[in-house]
Amino acid sequence: HELSLKLEMLEKGGFDHFMLKEIYEQPRSIKDCMRGRIYANEGKVQLGGIKDYTEKLKNADRIIIIACGTSWHAGLVGEYLIEEYARVPVEVEYASEFRYRNPIISEKDIVVAISQSGETADTMAAIELAKEKGATIFGICNVVGSSIPRITHAGVYTHAGPEIGVASTKAFTAQVSVLTLMALYIAQQRGTINQAEMVNMLTELDEIPSLVEKCLKTDEKIRVISEKLKDSTNCLFLGRGSGFPVALEGALKLKEISYIHAEGYPAAEMKHGPIALIDEDMPVIFIATKNSSYEKVISNIQEVKARKGKVIAIVTEGDKEVKKMADYIIEIPDTNEAYLPLLATIPLQLLAYNIAVMRGCNVDQPRNLAKSVTVE
Ligand code: G6P
Repeated sequence: HELSLKLEMLEKGGFDHFMLKEIYEQPRSIKDCMRGRIYANEGKVQLGGIKDYTEKLKNADRIIIIACGTSWHAGLVGEYLIEEYARVPVEVEYASEFRYRNPIISEKDIVVAISQSGETADTMAAIELAKEKGATIFGICNVVGSSIPRITHAGVYTHAGPEIGVASTKAFTAQVSVLTLMALYIAQQRGTINQAEMVNMLTELDEIPSLVEKCLKTDEKIRVISEKLKDSTNCLFLGRGSGFPVALEGALKLKEISYIHAEGYPAAEMKHGPIALIDEDMPVIFIATKNSSYEKVISNIQEVKARKGKVIAIVTEGDKEVKKMADYIIEIPDTNEAYLPLLATIPLQLLAYNIAVMRGCNVDQPRNLAKSVTVE
C-alpha cells in the first residue's frame, strides 16, 4: 500500500493532484504545442498536418467548429481569432446540437472538430455527418492515434501530453494555442495579415510560455481569495470579447470540481438577467484586463459594486482603476489582446483548484464526470 502511494506521488511529480501538476505544466505544454510551428523572424506559421489543404482554406466560405465541454470553449476563442485575423466567418456549435438539427453544410465548408480525448461520441457523430455532406474536416486533438484523428481528413495535434485530471486544463490552453496558430496560418494564406504584423504577432506569441509562468505566481494570492469564496453557493464570471469564453471556462472549472454553482456570461448581458442575483453574497469574477473593452468592463464592475456584490478582477499588471473598485485583484502580464485567453485562464484554473481542495472535493475525479464521454 505504501509503495503504491509513493508511486502515485511520483506520477504526480510531487504535486498533490494531477490537476495541479497539469496546471503547472502549461508553460511547457504550450511551448511543445508551438514547437516547429512558428518562425517568428520570418513571420511564418507552419502547420504540417493541414498544409495539403491550403487551397481549401483559401477558398472556404465558412469554418464550423464543433466540440463539447471545455473544447467548445476553446472553439469560441478560435472564433474571435479566426474572424479577426483571417476574416472568414466562423460558427461554433455544440456537437450534440449540430448532429441532430439537419445542419446546412456544403463542400466549401471546413469543419474543425476539437477534442482532447479524440473519442467523444457526439463529436464523432457530428464529424461523420459533415463528412457525408462533403465538408473538409480538420481535427484538433490531444490523444495521438485516437478515433477522431482517424476519421478526419487532416488535423493538428495539441501535443499537451497525457491529461489525467478530469477537469481539462493544459489541453484547453493547447487547443487555444493551436487555434491561434491556425488563425494566423489562414490569415497568412488568405493575405489578410501583412508580413510586419505577422512578425510582431509571432514574436509576442513566442513570449507566451514565459508569461504563463508568471501567471502561475498568482497562486499565493489566489489561495487568500479562495479562502473567502469557498463557502459561496453561487459565483458569476463575466468577460467581454475573448474574455467571454474565458469566463465560461472559469465557471465550468469551478462547478466541475468544487460543486459551487457558477455561470459565465458576456459582461454586457448581465443587465438582462444575472444582475437580479447580485447581492453581498454573490461573488463576481471579472476578466478586466487592459484591452479594447476595458472601459466597458469597468462600468459593469461599478454596476456590481453598486449592488454590494463582491468583485474579484483579473487585471493587467500595474492596473490602477479597477484596483480602486474591486475587493480583490489578480494581476497578469500585459500581452497582445489576441493572447489574453492563454493568460487569463491560468488564475481561474488555480481559483477552482484551491476552492475545491478547501472544500474537500475529489479534485482529480469529480463526482458524475468522466474524462472521456464515449456514449451520447
Ligand atoms: C468531458 C470532460 C471534459 C471535456 C469534454 C469534451 O465532459 O470531462 O473535460 O471538455 O468531455 O471532451 P473532449 O475529449 O472531446 O475534449
